Amino acid sequence: MSVQVKEFGKTADGRTVSVYRITNVNGAYVDVLDYGCTLQSICVPDQDGNLVDVCLGYDTVAEYEANDGYLGAFIGRHANRIKEGKFTLNGVDYTLAVNNGPNHLHGGLKGFDKVVWDTSVASDRLLFSYTSPDGEEGYPGTLVLSVIYSFDDNNALTLTYDAVCNKDTVINLTNHCYFNLNGAGTGTVLDQKLQVFADQFTENDADCLPTGKIKDVEGTPFDFRIPKLIGADIKEENQDLINGSGYDHNFVLRGEGMRDACVLSSDKTGIVCTTATTQPGIQIYSANFMTERKGKGGATYNMRDAICLETQHFPDAIHNENFPSAVLKKGEEYHQETKYTFTVSK
Ligand code: BGC
Repeated sequence: MSVQVKEFGKTADGRTVSVYRITNVNGAYVDVLDYGCTLQSICVPDQDGNLVDVCLGYDTVAEYEANDGYLGAFIGRHANRIKEGKFTLNGVDYTLAVNNGPNHLHGGLKGFDKVVWDTSVASDRLLFSYTSPDGEEGYPGTLVLSVIYSFDDNNALTLTYDAVCNKDTVINLTNHCYFNLNGAGTGTVLDQKLQVFADQFTENDADCLPTGKIKDVEGTPFDFRIPKLIGADIKEENQDLINGSGYDHNFVLRGEGMRDACVLSSDKTGIVCTTATTQPGIQIYSANFMTERKGKGGATYNMRDAICLETQHFPDAIHNENFPSAVLKKGEEYHQETKYTFTVSK
């Protein structure tokens, strides 16, 4: 295991961005930016032993700054939407930055994806730290964060999030990696197979906000309990699919503690990605709003050219009492872990 660091570029306001490469004994590697703890590349072996980059990204800081979509980024303080960017906690009303129609999305105008994180290196891992000041993007409390990315000799990438706040607050941390197991920039993921260990999903309205209703996947296009092509049912005349313009939904994961959430696989490369997590839900997002753009190495990315597997608390939990709470009490320790393990099917 080795870690190399080099300069990646500079932000528009002059901050230096570095890229850290963690390489394992197989020669597989991940490239991570200190800008947004962004997963820029994940290069893992296919069935013939050739390395394939399965993560979409850009070659320059300017493209990360200019484009939407949060490619590979670490997301916080609160992943996904909070209705109208408003909530009440302990009788106090809070107003957050609004950046998605009338709603707050992925931490606001300057979420954790836009922070250049303090970084230190320890053998197979990167330790990122950041203190989010009281009131940042409207959130209560000074939040002290510690994020660890490690990559091991079994091609497992583990993301660990720890945080503590000096006031009661809300928190929902995730990673927004866009996976394509045929290789980033090779086109659609609709021919890749997905299995999700969830019997239910949360219903959204047309703004992608949860209605509060939890639906059974049984008999719907959301039934991924048995591995199924992502594209198998995506064009069905189904109101939930119409509301999300495809899959853009939180699945209610079975069980608790560290357990498997989903398995993504490609018949073309034989690459299998198994996602395990401590989180209660996973946003399966089929890159429905990915507008055409240039990606790494001159590739072109389009709608549905990737899938995001965003382990998380349920969106807008603060307004839905039937969802697991996303409130972090003053002094309480927040801890979540997600592991993406890459294997081959033969
Ligand atoms: C959201 C989508 C959003 C995308 C990119 C996903 O997590 O659920 O609605 O368009 O992130 O911002």
